[in-house]
Amino acid sequence: MIEVANVSIRYGRGIDAVDAVEDVSFRVENGGSLAFIGPSGCGKTTLLFGIAGLLAPIEGEILVDGTPVTGTRREIALILQNAGLLPWKTVWQNANLSLMLRHEYPQRTAETVLRDLRLLDVRGRFPAELSEGMKRRVGIARALSMSPSVMLMDEPLASLDTLTRERIQDLFLTLWKEHRFSLVLVTHDIEEAAFLGETIAVLSERPAQIKEIVDNPGMGDVDYRTTAAFRETLGRLREVLER
Ligand SMILES: Nc1ncnc2c1ncn2[C@@H]1O[C@H](COP(=O)(O)OP(=O)(O)O)[C@@H](O)[C@H]1O
Ligand SMILES: [Mg+2]
Repeated sequence: MIEVANVSIRYGRGIDAVDAVEDVSFRVENGGSLAFIGPSGCGKTTLLFGIAGLLAPIEGEILVDGTPVTGTRREIALILQNAGLLPWKTVWQNANLSLMLRHEYPQRTAETVLRDLRLLDVRGRFPAELSEGMKRRVGIARALSMSPSVMLMDEPLASLDTLTRERIQDLFLTLWKEHRFSLVLVTHDIEEAAFLGETIAVLSERPAQIKEIVDNPGMGDVDYRTTAAFRETLGRLREVLER
């Protein structure tokens, strides 16, 4: 379980201090998902870095599985905006980079992960030989290769065309249901938030505060986008965002 209680995060100090996150509280049950949506520059990435143990809050507490997060942890995976691939390494090497950095060897699961992400056939290619959608999938494979219990995603599909984005969202939904990691997704795309978030927290302008947590009953199926419930959630999100 992820428990975030009254967390504030600030960059710098004194008159140059920038408050990026203010008094944010939420929980995500094991296997649950929460999407954050908010305007550009409001503090979404900062909040995610806090949960990942990359930034320390000035106030509040972040617990994962009951233990305070004080630094990066093996069971907490982070997928960044650009997949962060190393150009001189192959798909296989990039997907297993997190493991290799820990001097661990890819196992059968690594192959399964690549197959699940439809990357097994291109395992020998270099990033320059991949489409943008493939690169993002390698980033997801890298995170999954660690068998994380918590998956943090920072706009992982930004700037992809709609069709590619939706295909990867479908794939990701399937992976989430199968692997049952807890998901925290940050996005500025309301459809992505409504498709992947069991609940959706709408953030204010900087410093990010939770304006409202919107329930999203009915999510969890690839056909969800075509339903009235989905359109209703989108409407609700627009309303809260504009308020
Ligand atoms: N290292 C930093 N030092 C000072 N301010 C920063 C730093 N990183 C980000 N910020 C500021 O904090 C705010 C939130 O940034 P960020 O979390 O990246 O927003 P988002 O991901 O929602 O676009 C922005 O105004 C940004 O300019
Ligand atoms: Mg960001």
